[in-house]
Amino acid sequence: MTASLAGSKIQVAVVGGSGYAGFETIRWLLRHPHVEISGLYGPPDELGPIDGFFPLLSKQLPMRQELFDIAKISRSAELVLLCVPHKVAMGYVPKLREAGLKVIDFSADYRLKDPAVYEKWYCPHTDVGRLAEAVYGLPEFYRDAIANAQLIANPGCYPTCSVLALGPLLKEGLIAADGIIVNAISGVSGAGRRPNQKYHFPDRNENFEPYAVGTHRHAPEIRQVLSAIAAKEVSLTFVPHLCPMDRGMLCSIYAQSVKESVTSEKLTDVLNDYYGNAAFVRVRTEVLPAVKYVVHTNFCDVAARMVNGRVIIFSALDNLVKGASGQAIQNMNIMYGWDETTGLI
Ligand SMILES: NC(=O)c1ccc[n+]([C@@H]2O[C@H](COP(=O)([O-])OP(=O)(O)OC[C@H]3O[C@@H](n4cnc5c(N)ncnc54)[C@H](OP(=O)(O)O)[C@@H]3O)[C@@H](O)[C@H]2O)c1
Repeated sequence: MTASLAGSKIQVAVVGGSGYAGFETIRWLLRHPHVEISGLYGPPDELGPIDGFFPLLSKQLPMRQELFDIAKISRSAELVLLCVPHKVAMGYVPKLREAGLKVIDFSADYRLKDPAVYEKWYCPHTDVGRLAEAVYGLPEFYRDAIANAQLIANPGCYPTCSVLALGPLLKEGLIAADGIIVNAISGVSGAGRRPNQKYHFPDRNENFEPYAVGTHRHAPEIRQVLSAIAAKEVSLTFVPHLCPMDRGMLCSIYAQSVKESVTSEKLTDVLNDYYGNAAFVRVRTEVLPAVKYVVHTNFCDVAARMVNGRVIIFSALDNLVKGASGQAIQNMNIMYGWDETTGLI
């Protein structure tokens, strides 16, 4: 359906509305002046009034989550925000695209360009033909391509936090493309809403631990994107940690300077030059990036310092916002030619 059939607003369907990323997406969509939520779709065990899943939505969205129905979605929406896990997403995308719908996919299914790399880290890819169509939805690097995209691969939260920190410095050749260490921490909502023992309160509270060291699925995504930005192979060690906070993400990143003359001021200048017009990246100097200064916003804060001959870069964002739903809304704004900040500030 076109926007004109439903008035002037774009009709947007959310699939996976009862997940954490789906919930955040609903909240941003409700505040957006140019869109309406046309429907919510979930799996058989997650149907019913959406405020039954998220009581905070009572009197804000009197809508039921229904079973995925391609005929209904294609009649009532023109854009679908797909907030479902990997593998599930690539089952839906072919149907949605064949029905002519624009899609922003939150999962990893269309982020990795090489199906062999995807298979190594996830599972065999079942929609290889569409990988080339997907545009990596990191506006600060791919804004022009996003504007013309029909299928967006919304980046992962760790990749967003890492790439926004490292991208400009690698692009300008200020840091070596090898030997980079990304030390990252995430709040527990990064693991999604479905409970398991590992995320049980007594196990998680007051506990701070590394996990998936050397095996985290976001490492190949970070490498792929940074290698494309640097125009050379980037190698890095990615060390994620789980922190007992609901949401938020902080990266402390260590890299080698390639020029002896590099100073903290020079690093900051390069970040400022690159992000001067970026609405959602704030280059910090005195106050370093911290989770409390970015949660519930679409901002990513970055800062760089030269310490004892080593470059240290910090970045912080909200995994559910700039790391997922906010970035998707930012991408939607660009796709529809609206101001990038619409509904987000
Ligand atoms: N959480 C984050 O910080 C974050 C950041 C960036 C990207 N993402 C990505 O965003 C997506 C959603 O993540 P999340 O954290 O919101 O996970 P989540 O809380 O587990 O939500 C996923 C939702 O999708 C539903 N779902 C599963 N299979 C489905 C199907 N066949 N049809 C419709 N809905 C289905 C799930 O229902 P069940 O629980 O019943 O399976 C759940 O409600 C994932 O691809 C994730 O990688 C998440």
